[in-house]
Amino acid sequence: MKAKTVLITGANSGIGKAAAIKFAREGYYVIMACRNLEKGRLVQRHIIEITKNSQVDLLALDVASLDSIRRFCAEYEKKYDQLDILIHNAAYLQHGVKEYQFSQDHIELSFATNVVGPFFLTYLLRGMLEKSENPKILNACTVSIRHYFIKKRKIEFDNLQGEFKDSRPYNTYKKYGDSKMALLLLTFKMAEVMGKSGIKVNALQIPAIRISKDTRSQFKSVWRLSAEIQNAFGAKPETVANTYFDICTSEALNHLSGKLINNKLEVMKPSYYTHSFIQIIKQLIDMHVYPRYADDADNIESVWEVCSKMTQADFR
Ligand SMILES: NC(=O)c1ccc[n+]([C@@H]2O[C@H](COP(=O)([O-])OP(=O)(O)OC[C@H]3O[C@@H](n4cnc5c(N)ncnc54)[C@H](OP(=O)(O)O)[C@@H]3O)[C@@H](O)[C@H]2O)c1
Repeated sequence: MKAKTVLITGANSGIGKAAAIKFAREGYYVIMACRNLEKGRLVQRHIIEITKNSQVDLLALDVASLDSIRRFCAEYEKKYDQLDILIHNAAYLQHGVKEYQFSQDHIELSFATNVVGPFFLTYLLRGMLEKSENPKILNACTVSIRHYFIKKRKIEFDNLQGEFKDSRPYNTYKKYGDSKMALLLLTFKMAEVMGKSGIKVNALQIPAIRISKDTRSQFKSVWRLSAEIQNAFGAKPETVANTYFDICTSEALNHLSGKLINNKLEVMKPSYYTHSFIQIIKQLIDMHVYPRYADDADNIESVWEVCSKMTQADFR
């Protein structure tokens, strides 16, 4: 029987690497989509060695670049005839950065990497997914979206290309949180649009996890210290990799689409709490609910429209 294919972006470190190992161990044909091929090759070799699964491929992808996504998809289509599971795992968060960062398409880098890239990659690969018997997409979200329990928190839709870079200081965490909330909004719309072709789309709310050595080494000293603290308490990337695997392959979760799922594999719902101080605290610790901001049809449409405009993609 032919092995099922799984494509994981950012599969050369952290959770992505652990997920590539997990799927390879389970007999999947793993396609690692990485921008750093040198590092990727080492990881690819390591995965093949420890899993004894030789079906681990490495393809070049800078998910923050529309051109790179186009090249990647052309190469993918030449080599493969279908795609079973697509995991949007790669993300940009550069601790301590204070200057606006842009992609080569002049999109703020968190938004380009964490939202527009996954949107466009999904768009170009939808034909490949449609050929699978049971296609799945998984988006890597984060507990940072819980900041949207604060009512005034909103995605800066008017500043996605640095329109206000001279008057609004750059906050890398705000941009990261905005981008992950946008990815969640995309999840809901993607599930609706792609559901017509039988493609199921979900998102995972990932808690604080141990940060990989490679990523830590890029931090400035004070952030390296905070990463050490996170690593002392955070779970191992392998726990999230197992959750990726379960969401994408488990029979019990097979019917799910358009859902945010927590790290205990529970389906989350929009919050029913009010905005009083006590209720906000309760919401923060209730891991079964997410901010109502994500349940707003206008917000969902706004992200979809912005991504469609930036990529010229038309899913119809
Ligand atoms: N770790 C946590 O505590 C945590 C918590 C919540 C959510 N998450 C989410 O979980 C996912 C994985 O996080 P992680 O902790 O495993 O991160 P990580 O170790 O820093 O790995 C991130 C991966 O993304 C890749 N990447 C970044 N920009 C890219 C681009 N433009 N094109 C292609 N690949 C790119 C990196 O590649 P390079 O090696 O080339 O840099 C790396 O392989 C992310 O979506 C993150 O937001 C993590």
